[in-house]
Amino acid sequence: MYLVRLIYTSEISDGFGPNDIEDILEKAKKKNAECNVTGLLCFNSTHFMQCLEGSRKAVNATYHRILNDKRHRNIIMLNYCEIAEREFEKWSMGYIPYSKLTTPLNIKYSGTSDFNPLAMSAGSAHKLMLALRDSMLDKVI
Ligand SMILES: Cc1cc2nc3c(=O)[nH]c(=O)nc-3n(C[C@H](O)[C@H](O)[C@H](O)COP(=O)(O)O)c2cc1C
Repeated sequence: MYLVRLIYTSEISDGFGPNDIEDILEKAKKKNAECNVTGLLCFNSTHFMQCLEGSRKAVNATYHRILNDKRHRNIIMLNYCEIAEREFEKWSMGYIPYSKLTTPLNIKYSGTSDFNPLAMSAGSAHKLMLALRDSMLDKVI
């Protein structure tokens, strides 16, 4: 079964609260571990950017569930491609909070100092996630 990587961005729906992010992470980690999906979720309190990698079937099924989740909206796929190997294999779903989305990183990968996934090309979004992964290596997140 081929491996694929999918990166998308979205924004929170009205009424989104701190409990929602906890619930999302708990479910994501459990479900992804069951179907060997790995990846990273970045969240800056208004916007998400998430990378999912795994078999084409598992990533597509996961993305369909995510698309139907009313806790976020304006879901835009930035990248979908076949990959030869995983890059986030340590994490069923790693979490990158706002504090890690620093101005130097944002400036390096986009035209703005704020975290704005829509201001990034697919290539920049991917590279930003790799940089975040490397800054978190050896941590279970
Ligand atoms: C931003 C965001 C990221 C999510 N990431 C995942 C994920 O990586 N894996 C997953 O199974 N569910 C994820 N979810 C939760 C799903 O949308 C869904 O609630 C969950 O898979 C349970 O689906 P079910 O109730 O149909 O079983 C995410 C939801 C949001 C809003």
